Amino acid sequence: MERKVPSTTRGARAARLGRQAASEVAMLIRQCTPADATGICDVINEAAVAYRGVIAADRWKEPYMPLTELQHEIGSGVSFWGAYEGDVLVAVMGLQHVKDVSLIRHAYTRTSRQGQGLGKALLKCVANHTERPLLIGTWAAATWAIGFYQSQGFRVLGKEKDDVLRRYWTIPERQIEESVVLANERWAKRSVA
Ligand SMILES: CC(C)(COP(=O)(O)OP(=O)(O)OC[C@H]1O[C@@H](n2cnc3c(N)ncnc32)[C@H](O)[C@@H]1OP(=O)(O)O)[C@@H](O)C(=O)NCCC(=O)NCCS
Repeated sequence: MERKVPSTTRGARAARLGRQAASEVAMLIRQCTPADATGICDVINEAAVAYRGVIAADRWKEPYMPLTELQHEIGSGVSFWGAYEGDVLVAVMGLQHVKDVSLIRHAYTRTSRQGQGLGKALLKCVANHTERPLLIGTWAAATWAIGFYQSQGFRVLGKEKDDVLRRYWTIPERQIEESVVLANERWAKRSVA
C-alpha cells in the first residue's frame, strides 16, 4: 500500500526549499522490496551516527548495521516500510511480529530529514499493519528517540522491561542493560493469560 506523506510535511520541506511548491515534492511511503536492502542499510547507517559517543562505547560499531545483519533481520521476519523522495529512500521503519506482539524495529530518518514528520508518518503506516500490542526497544541514552515515541502515545515500561526484552527480542544481555522498552496503549489493555 502506498501512502502520500501529509501535506504539512511536504509543506515544511518545501518551505525549506524556498520557492519550490509543496506539490512538487513527491514524498511517498510504501513497503520496501528486496531491491531496497542497500538503500535501507544506507539510511540506517547514516542516521545511526546520532548514537556515536552517546550510547556505551562497547555497543557502537561501524558500520552500525552491516548489510549481512540487515539481511538476517529481514530473513527473521522484519518487514520494512520506507519514505521515498522520488526514488531516494529517506526514512525507514521495520515491523516484526513476535509471539503475541509486534515490534517496531530499526526506525531511522536520514539526519537532514529528521524533525519533518517522516518518522511519525511511518509509525502511523506501520502501526496500521498490526492489531497486536506494539513494542519498541531503544537505547536508554537515545533520549530523542524516547521523546519521539512518547510524543506518539508510547509509554516507557518500568521494571518489567528486562523480562519483556528477553521474551520478545534476541539480543545480548549488554544490550538489555542499556535499553528501554516503550509500549502503546494496546500493551496495557492486553489480556494476560
Ligand atoms: C527517532 C527518529 C526515527 C524520529 O524520526 P523523525 O522523522 O525525526 O521524527 P518526526 O519528525 O516524525 O517527529 C514526529 C514527532 O516526534 C516529536 N519528537 C521528535 N523528537 C522528539 C524529542 N526528542 N522529544 C520530544 N518529541 C520529539 C516531534 O515533535 C513530532 O511531534 P508531533 O506529533 O507534535 O508532530 C529520527 O529522529 C532518527 O532517525 N534518529 C536517529 C536514530 C534513532 O534514534 N532511531 C530510533 C531507533 S528506535
